[in-house]
Amino acid sequence: MLYCDLGDVWAIGREYKKGRTKNKNELPVELLKKMILYSSDEGDLVCDFFLGSFSTAKVARSLGRYSIGFEINETAYKHQVDHITSIQRGWMLAGLRSNGGNPHFNQRKRWTKEEMCSVIERYHNIKHTGVTDRQAYNILSQEFGRGYFSMMNIIKRKQGSL
Ligand SMILES: C[S@@+](CC[C@H](N)C(=O)[O-])C[C@H]1O[C@@H](n2cnc3c(N)ncnc32)[C@H](O)[C@@H]1O
Repeated sequence: MLYCDLGDVWAIGREYKKGRTKNKNELPVELLKKMILYSSDEGDLVCDFFLGSFSTAKVARSLGRYSIGFEINETAYKHQVDHITSIQRGWMLAGLRSNGGNPHFNQRKRWTKEEMCSVIERYHNIKHTGVTDRQAYNILSQEFGRGYFSMMNIIKRKQGSL
């Protein structure tokens, strides 16, 4: 199931953290989650040689993995070690099992005319809020449980037929 949305390109946006200090090196949780799920099993050991803000280690722990790694900045290391131990190991797993671990829960299902109409209608509503096409496809992908490129194809096909 986990490999259903494996493609050549993953379109995952940076996280927007309102009012919080931004770390431009920090990877989005969704990306780390996908990479860890695809490359390891629960109980495995994930190594990050440059721990930084421990994002990889934190997601690994949240997915029931163990983590090991290195960080040259002692202050940052101490701060993050305190934080990571407060994360309950495996807490993210329950949410994954409820849809088989695949965020694109409708991916292999046949499209119905009604669903296509809903996607197109939703696309126009989203676009009215001023988002880019890329952002709109990401939102549609999450809401309709299908891949980013499926959403783009439906919209482009509709635009081509106008
Ligand atoms: C971009 S961050 C890594 C982000 C991290 N992989 C994550 O998931 O959040 C790079 C980190 O590597 C650390 N670093 C650089 N050289 C290092 C070295 N020789 N040994 C250990 N850590 C090092 C830096 O202090 C910095 O915090």
